[in-house]
Amino acid sequence: MVQRSKITVIGSANIDLVTETNRYPKLGETLLGNKFHQFPGGKGANQAVAASRLGAEVTFIGCVGQDDYGKQVIDNLTNESVNVNHVIVNSSVETGIANITVAEDDNAIIVVPGANSMLAPEHIKSLEEIIHTSDVVVLQLEIPIETVEAAVNIAYQKKIPVILNPAPAAKLSEDLLNKITYITPNESEIAFLTSESEEASIESLFANMYNHGSNYVIMTCGERGVFYGNPTNNLQHVKACLVETIDTTGAGDTFNAAFAVSIATGKSIADAIDYANSAAALSVTKLGAQTGMPTCKEVDIFISNKEKGKLQ
Ligand code: RIB
Repeated sequence: MVQRSKITVIGSANIDLVTETNRYPKLGETLLGNKFHQFPGGKGANQAVAASRLGAEVTFIGCVGQDDYGKQVIDNLTNESVNVNHVIVNSSVETGIANITVAEDDNAIIVVPGANSMLAPEHIKSLEEIIHTSDVVVLQLEIPIETVEAAVNIAYQKKIPVILNPAPAAKLSEDLLNKITYITPNESEIAFLTSESEEASIESLFANMYNHGSNYVIMTCGERGVFYGNPTNNLQHVKACLVETIDTTGAGDTFNAAFAVSIATGKSIADAIDYANSAAALSVTKLGAQTGMPTCKEVDIFISNKEKGKLQ
């Protein structure tokens, strides 16, 4: 039997409260929306689900409340074959939620972290062995930064590759940046991390990241594709795949998960980015963060159609 790669995702789990509207409301305005949905979400849980659908053996470490939403989160992860043995259920706080407005081919999100803020460094330290036996560890920034730092330090001791998706953006120490193998900001996150404007040149943003200690920087830019490089390799660009966009929520999560699965299976960084780019393109063709996350078979078919010129 083929050994599946082991991915540990440490991060948030939310319930997404999604409203579809034709446009975003102005400040102080009341708008009538078109539809309302509830979906499982949270960047951590989304990345765990995407990696599992792409064939990895995934352990999710996170924290939910002892409420209906917490139960929905755990049931959903379990149905997606994600190991939830190390998810904490905290009775003193509600499960995290995300208020998402989908309009104008984009989305706007407000996260109320709730139980996600209770995921403490001590819990991560007690799970050192899980991290040390992972092929790749994946993190985002919807949990306390001390918890992210604890996980990165444990992975770093044993040279386990770490992918940090710095979303939502927060200031990161040089020490932390230096211990992260791959950091994957989008355009606004890289501007925040470097204190540069979003109009700054890609070269200057990347130089700034390297000056602050980063290793591989992979910048996802939606329709502008992906830029990547490290302090000793030239900046590279990969074009976005053109697909019909229904909802971009979760595209970044799919990208990070697919990249993690590819790196864990030993692919080169260029191949891993191509694969992640295709998986992320597929994810935007359905409403909801997890609904459009593809299986490995779906990504393989998409890539083969792309190669045959059936897609752009
Ligand atoms: O990346 C998308 C996710 O961001 C949503 O599922 C929402 O829960 C927020 O965490």
